[in-house]
Amino acid sequence: MEIHWNDKLAIDNGVIDDDHRLAIFIANDFIRMKRHEMTRERAIEVIDALRLHMRRHCQREEHFQKSIGFEPRAEHADEHRRLNQRLDQIVDKLEYAPIAELPGLVQATTNVLRTWLVDHILKDDIGMRDAIAAGEGKTDGDEAVCFV
Ligand SMILES: [Fe+2]
Ligand SMILES: [Fe+2]
Repeated sequence: MEIHWNDKLAIDNGVIDDDHRLAIFIANDFIRMKRHEMTRERAIEVIDALRLHMRRHCQREEHFQKSIGFEPRAEHADEHRRLNQRLDQIVDKLEYAPIAELPGLVQATTNVLRTWLVDHILKDDIGMRDAIAAGEGKTDGDEAVCFV
């Protein structure tokens, strides 16, 4: 089942939400792929695109968090590091797993994408919504924020 965007995931009605929507869009590209369409190359291509996007997104978030003095930002950066390492591991496995293990790996990857993308937004990123609501920063048109 695909991941669906909903209002509970909204953080800033701006750049961060756009990033999250794109991450979900790419993850869904993977999740939607039918078994007969799934080749090792295609699987790696999609996860690699997600990996690149998430690295940029995490940098953006961390920069924004620094600009507003968001407190749990060290822990948040650790969590980003773990998420990105997880994507690295998935790409490694997709590259080197024996062909017979590929379907199981694809299923495991789908489960990971479904859970951690949404969990990270709901449990960790959501703190930024309160900070923004409290007027501690905004992600659009704020000179203090420089996006990559
Ligand atoms: Fe995020
Ligand atoms: Fe985050």
